Amino acid sequence: MIRVEGVAHAYHAARPVLEGVTFEIAGGEKVVLLGCNGSGKTTLLKILDGLLFPDAGLYFFRGKKIDRRTLADAEFHRDFRRRVAFLFQNPDAMIFNPTVRDEIAFGPRRLGLEGADDRAETWARNLGIAPLLDRPPFQLSTGEKQKVCLAALLALEPEVLLLDEPTGSLDPRTTGWLVDFLQDLSVTTVTTTHNLSLGAELGERALVLSEKHTVLYDGAIEGILGDEQKLLEANLVHIHRHRHAGVEHRHFHSHDWE
Ligand SMILES: Nc1ncnc2c1ncn2[C@@H]1O[C@H](COP(=O)(O)OP(=O)(O)O)[C@@H](O)[C@H]1O
Ligand SMILES: [Mg+2]
Repeated sequence: MIRVEGVAHAYHAARPVLEGVTFEIAGGEKVVLLGCNGSGKTTLLKILDGLLFPDAGLYFFRGKKIDRRTLADAEFHRDFRRRVAFLFQNPDAMIFNPTVRDEIAFGPRRLGLEGADDRAETWARNLGIAPLLDRPPFQLSTGEKQKVCLAALLALEPEVLLLDEPTGSLDPRTTGWLVDFLQDLSVTTVTTTHNLSLGAELGERALVLSEKHTVLYDGAIEGILGDEQKLLEANLVHIHRHRHAGVEHRHFHSHDWE
């Protein structure tokens, strides 16, 4: 479904944020994109969503090259927008409609899909936010806004859902709910996180970006979670010196809840 070949990107000439990134994702896979702050996770998701075009390398979606030229075709662009959906890290960046109902129906209406209002009701129910349908979304809590944004994307019935640190600002109960919800969803997902303990719950395959913005690991999530050397190299854990009862020793640590 997704093929990325030798993708490189830099916002400023001398500072690459992605280098030689190559991978494929098959339909139905649940991929966890791991990497420390600044490793290029958000940039990569933006490329997969066609919001940003790489300086070098190629991106194919269902065998079709995604670049400025192909997305300039209005019909192809609309089709791509329906198939690939991107949940931004900050839900406030996505919300602008007067009611939750309009927010969820907006995408289907804009893309000319049938039954926008029914889709809004269905996805509000699926996400447990039906009682909020007539409320202004900007008044809601972060967790509720996140659900509104997710409903708005799922109302398009996309094939790929790109999620950027979706649990970053959620409390533990809402995080648990989201993890279960995503697991049950029969959509290809690429989820970024630097929360290792959630990694295994968000997907079976890990793609790890190094501090040098290259792919450091691509394989089963268990394989990276058990590899302290690679985790250290990826800056996903660090070593602490501790004193317990006066005895100093060293530990690997991940600060998951920061
Ligand atoms: N719009 C931008 N302009 C300039 N630099 C950017 C921009 N977006 C991100 N960066 C820089 O690119 C690097 C990678 O960012 P990002 O993809 O957001 O990483 P991550 O999501 O892994 O934290 C960071 O150093 C960041 O400061
Ligand atoms: Mg990011």
